[in-house]
Order: sequence, then structure tokens, then C-alpha cells
Amino acid sequence: MVGMSEPFPLDLERLRRRPDVEDPTLLAWDATDVLLVERALAEAEDADLDGSSILVVGERHGAITLGLAGAGLRGMGVYQDRMAHERALEANAAALGLGGSYRQLETVADGAASARLILWQLPRQVGAVRRTVAELSGVQGGALLFAGGRVKHLSVGMNAPLADGFGAVEPQLAQRKSRLLMARRDPTLALEPAADQRSTVSVGGRRLELRGAAEAFGGAALDPGTKLLLETLAARGAASGLSPATVVDLGCGNGTIAAWAALTWPAASIEATDDSRDAVASATASLEASGVAERARVVRADGGDHLAEASADVVLLNPPFHQGGTVHTGIATKLMRQAARMLRPGGTLFCVWNSHLRYRPRLERLVGPTEQLGRDRTFTVTASTRRG
Ligand SMILES: C[S@@+](CC[C@H](N)C(=O)[O-])C[C@H]1O[C@@H](n2cnc3c(N)ncnc32)[C@H](O)[C@@H]1O
Repeated sequence: MVGMSEPFPLDLERLRRRPDVEDPTLLAWDATDVLLVERALAEAEDADLDGSSILVVGERHGAITLGLAGAGLRGMGVYQDRMAHERALEANAAALGLGGSYRQLETVADGAASARLILWQLPRQVGAVRRTVAELSGVQGGALLFAGGRVKHLSVGMNAPLADGFGAVEPQLAQRKSRLLMARRDPTLALEPAADQRSTVSVGGRRLELRGAAEAFGGAALDPGTKLLLETLAARGAASGLSPATVVDLGCGNGTIAAWAALTWPAASIEATDDSRDAVASATASLEASGVAERARVVRADGGDHLAEASADVVLLNPPFHQGGTVHTGIATKLMRQAARMLRPGGTLFCVWNSHLRYRPRLERLVGPTEQLGRDRTFTVTASTRRG
């Protein structure tokens, strides 16, 4: 087995991001991945661990899992929230001849009981850290945790949930602008399952019950861009002017838009879709709590690629403008392209975006004629008609 003094056991330049957005400015790995693998290999050697006792949480394109596999470990449990990440890992594993070297997990809890060593790429929100720690409550006493992130994305507030779940947290020296936090599970600590976040909001003339699970965008909060989108549609009489049969909430997050659409267009069937497991869980819970679950379907998919071409009358989209920690328009472009694919000719994409991104020419090119419906100090709302 390769220890810390050995070269990294994987040629990181061979890792790719696809089907996640690819761009020369975006890497498929970061220094946190490297630190996690280096510490894990040293630990696995010292404690004589095999791969099946290692749990990887928050893996992205495969650097951690395939780093371990490159060093000869097999059977690691891997939890990934995003489908694009899951597929990138799968494709990289196949390309590197490491297919079948790990187990894909549906929940973090599924991998907890067998874990002696946990490697975790931390999310950026403290609330998400707390909820995942609660999912790790089945971890045995003595199991070792290395949780890390880019220094600029870590906050001291993350120590408390980690300490509540594991015991004393020992921050490691920052290296290459990343830092690991180390903790060993104290068996005397009892963890309560974390409750989902909840909120009740009134927006665009509707009262919605929102729910948010660990990594869902914005938890159970109403996003300000989404608020402007729905207020604008309500003010423009969207409800009276349109009677769509099929409405898609593309990148549904906590399901705010889907729940609003279900209440606004009572005859429509609603498709809510996101590639995040937590978003899908949140949207499902929000639709249920808002009393419209029977009219809506929530599916985990990459860019709604499960929906047929020309099958939707209306698509509603509040695209992300980050790729990990980087502001990047690639994912928005991918979702606009997908919106155009699933809209029938003459169908409408309602989109909200940060005005400085100047998406209008892009929407014109990818979807069709685009009109500005609303704007505030930060966001612009547009309607694009799918050209025939
Ligand atoms: C700005 S948030 C909007 C969330 C929600 N619609 C709202 O209004 O609060 C963008 C959403 O796009 C989702 N997303 C990112 N990449 C995606 C992809 N490839 N396929 C589907 N959804 C994606 C994110 O998980 C996130 O929930």
C-alpha cells in the first residue's frame, strides 16, 4: 500500500468532470481530496484497515475514491448527493480500469455502521454539516473522521456539530489552502436525528409549506430570485393567461416553484426535478406539506434528462451560478439547453437570473425570442418562447 511519502496513487490529470460541466478553468479534484487520500492511506496502513471499512462522504468526481482504489483498496462506501458527481465517478472509474472498486450508497446512514474511517468533503453550510453528522449516528465508537474543505469555505461554526457527533475536533495544519479536521468518535455521545428545516411562506399569492434536507439549495428558505420570479408571474396574471398541461420545475431545490405552480395551475401536471438527493427529498416533502403531492412528480435526474423532447408547455428555471466554489455559467447553459429540449415549440421558459450575468442573448440563442418581464436590484425575470 502507498503511504504519505509515496507519489499520489492516481494520475489526477486523467480525472474528468463529465457529465458535470467541463471547462479548462474547472478541475476535477482539489487539494482537500489529496489531503484526505494521503491521511487515509497512512491511517489504513497503520490500523490495517481494508477498503470496506472506509466511508467517503461528499465525493465529487472521484479523486478520493479512485485515489484509494489506485492504492489497491477495494469496497469503499461512497455517498454523493449530486447525480452528475455520481456519474462522473462511475465514468472515471471505468476509464481508469477501476470499475467495481467501490459501493455507491443511497444514504450516508447506509455506510455508517461498517465505517472505521470516514473521509468527508464538507459542504459549505453549517446546517448541512449538522444534518449529515446526525446521519452518521450509527458510526461505532473509535472510528476516525477526517473532514475537510478549502480554507475559505470552512467556518469555525462547523466545529460544534462535528464535536457534538464525534467528540473533540482537532484542526490540522492548513496545506495548499485546504484544511482537515480530525475527530475520533466518542461512543458515549448520543445523537438525535436532525429534523428537516421548515418554513411557511407567502409568495405570488400562494401560501407554501417549504421543507429543506441537508444539502438542498437554501434549505427551507424562499430564494430571493425565486420570489421575484413568482411575484412577477403573479403580477402579470400568469394564472389567468396560461393554462399549461405540463409544467417543469427544472432544478427544483426545495420545490418552491413546483408547489406554487401546482396551486396556480390546478389542471396542470407538475414535474419537479433536480440532480441532488437532498433537493429531491426536500421538494417531495414541500409538495406533500403544501397539499399538492398527488399532482406532482419529483425525479432525481441530471438536467431533467428523463423528460421527453417537446413534452412541456412551461419550464420554470432559477439556475445555479456556481460550480462548487466557482462562479460559472456552464451549468445554467446546460439547464437552458435542456429546457429548450423539453419544451414544445411555442412553449415558454420562465427564467430568473442575476442581472450581471446578462443571460438574455444566451436565452435567445438557446431557446427563442426572449422578453423581460421583471427586474429588481439584483435579478431579471424573462420569458423565452421556444422557437418551432
Ligand atoms: C438556484 S437553485 C434553485 C432551487 C429552487 N428552484 C428554488 O427556486 O429555490 C438551483 C438548483 O439547480 C440544481 N441543479 C444543479 N445542477 C443540476 C443538474 N445538473 N440537474 C438538475 N438540477 C441541478 C441545484 O441542485 C439547485 O437545487
